[in-house]
Amino acid sequence: MAEPIRVVVTGAAGQIAYSLLYSIAKGDVFGKDQPIVLVLLDIPPMVPVLEGVVMELQDCALPLLREVLPTASPDEAFKDCDAAILVGSMPRKEGMERKDLLKANTNIFKVQGAALDKFAKKTVKVLVVGNPANTNCLVAAKSAPSIPKQNFSCLTRLDHNRASSQVAMRCGVSSDKVKNVIIWGNHSSTQYPDVHHAKVDVNGAETDAYDAVKDEAWLRGDFISTVQQRGAAIIKARKLSSAMSAAKAICDHMRNIWFGTKEGEFISMGVYAAGNSYGIAEDLIYSFPVQIKDKTWKIVDGLPINDFSRKKMDATAAELVEERDMALSL
Ligand code: NAI
Repeated sequence: MAEPIRVVVTGAAGQIAYSLLYSIAKGDVFGKDQPIVLVLLDIPPMVPVLEGVVMELQDCALPLLREVLPTASPDEAFKDCDAAILVGSMPRKEGMERKDLLKANTNIFKVQGAALDKFAKKTVKVLVVGNPANTNCLVAAKSAPSIPKQNFSCLTRLDHNRASSQVAMRCGVSSDKVKNVIIWGNHSSTQYPDVHHAKVDVNGAETDAYDAVKDEAWLRGDFISTVQQRGAAIIKARKLSSAMSAAKAICDHMRNIWFGTKEGEFISMGVYAAGNSYGIAEDLIYSFPVQIKDKTWKIVDGLPINDFSRKKMDATAAELVEERDMALSL
């Protein structure tokens, strides 16, 4: 059997982690023959809760899970880690200004980025989930200059899965029959879910999503706003934010990093924009269509972009530039 890998989950006492940890520990993400040491990081007041999560993970009696280490120290948590899933962040409280929220999170991700820089393996794969995910990811990457920017990404897979599922339901097919939807930009309500390049398998025939759905008004209207507003709709209904679906998306994202994407398929994730893709400003973490091979992502280049898409891609980029400039000025 392989040597165990060290996987850190932050915000490990929270609700996303509660759905996520079991999937990781049973081998859904890193493979059924990969032993794991799970490191659970949260803030000091949550350590007693972490102890409970540790007991539950032990009680699952999972053969791949070699050790579970709870901690409130980022330096200790990130030591020699192979994968870090940064879920924990400061939630928006009532009456809190956006600037204050950004400031609180910038501080968290600066500290964690610096700890990764100092203690993690240089090959570590870092996935940022805590919101504002794109900007937090940028702050973490900038605070870890010795780790390649290629190793950082943020989660827009939940939005991607939401978009695929909406199209599948509309066409009356299962979600695995839909591929190559794209989420462009920020994991926020300005994100642009795009199906111009998506394909639907209709009775064995690969069909353009626009032809399969046969409802352009829906695709350019309610489809986009449903995906953009889905997180808010779930909070309204559940009184809590998405957790089960977020955990599933984290697993999909990390599994693709570890094992690659399927031939001819791309997925969406927030990655470092170096200034030469689709005219998006450089020095942003922007969600693009990517393909992954040998644990390395590559932006799918050269897809034709029409005026409708261009405007939406630029609007979400403008929001990210504003977030970045505010975060870096703090
Ligand atoms: P939660 O409030 O249940 O848990 C968050 C946990 O993070 C808490 O246990 C808290 O103590 C911990 N935490 C706070 N600061 C920390 C720090 N400095 N270090 C370590 N842990 C820290 O929240 P939930 O529902 O688990 O969501 C977590 C984050 O994920 C939120 O920011 C949420 O907005 C975001 N999210 C992102 C999604 C995406 O698609 N990118 C989807 C859904 C949620």
